[in-house]
Amino acid sequence: MATTLPDLTPLENTLWLTLAGKALDYQARHPILRDKTAYDLVRRLDYDAGQFKLSASPVVGIAHRSLIMDDIVRRFVAGHPGAVGLDLGAGLDTRVYRVDPPATVEWYDVDLPGVTAARRLLLPERPHAHTVGADLNDPRWLDEVPGDRPAVIVADGLIGFLSREELATLLDRLIRHFPTGEICFNGYTRFHMWAARKYPGTQSVAPYLRSPGFDTPKDVERLEPRMKLVREIFLGREPEVAGYPWTTRLASFLTAWSTALSRKGTTVQHYRF
Ligand SMILES: C[S@@+](CC[C@H](N)C(=O)[O-])C[C@H]1O[C@@H](n2cnc3c(N)ncnc32)[C@H](O)[C@@H]1O
Repeated sequence: MATTLPDLTPLENTLWLTLAGKALDYQARHPILRDKTAYDLVRRLDYDAGQFKLSASPVVGIAHRSLIMDDIVRRFVAGHPGAVGLDLGAGLDTRVYRVDPPATVEWYDVDLPGVTAARRLLLPERPHAHTVGADLNDPRWLDEVPGDRPAVIVADGLIGFLSREELATLLDRLIRHFPTGEICFNGYTRFHMWAARKYPGTQSVAPYLRSPGFDTPKDVERLEPRMKLVREIFLGREPEVAGYPWTTRLASFLTAWSTALSRKGTTVQHYRF
């Protein structure tokens, strides 16, 4: 029987682009993230993942950055078994199932109310995993998240949708709420913000992009000085490049030597506070 989803707002509908990217990665000859749940969701909903006409490069970027952020979460919870995990702007991403943190970790998937309703409908319940339906710009959502434990916070595909002031306020609230923690997100430079408005594959999300773009991690540290860079990860320099389709592998090879050029590709920024 077909699943009827709640009506989603245009901003909430931005979740489909990344879900489609993960489903397409699963079908690739050499998948990177291997997210079968994303693929199964797309099939179950009869969703046309091909409609964005994503080329190999963005599919690889979406999948690889998620893999890297999963890894950051795994390492953090291995060292902090009593941690809190947060996935901000979680969409229909299934990070908590991929990472499978121990029962000592409380996990929170936060997204707007329509998305949260869709998650509850489509994804199985899991002990110690919670869905929070809220606008991240509303300070009250953090009230239901314990503030006395170290936190690992992921914002995968989110920060492009926040203005500079909204991001600053969100980071400030998070850092004041938790005693210590780590935050990671894919970088959005000014180039990325420009390119997302031009590239046909990202037209469905372009009207909702509000970030000015931050060209280097220093710009983020200036915005929130309590955040200290752990590592800026250039996807094109990571070992998974060996499994990229050859066009994307070649582009990575040609740009990996230069930090400025690498920043035009997908990056993951990893900070601690
Ligand atoms: C491109 S999708 C990424 C989804 C998911 N992280 C993934 O990797 O598949 C962006 C998500 O951010 C959410 N989002 C955007 N602005 C938000 C806000 N102010 N508060 C909560 N969620 C927001 C959208 O609803 C959407 O689910």
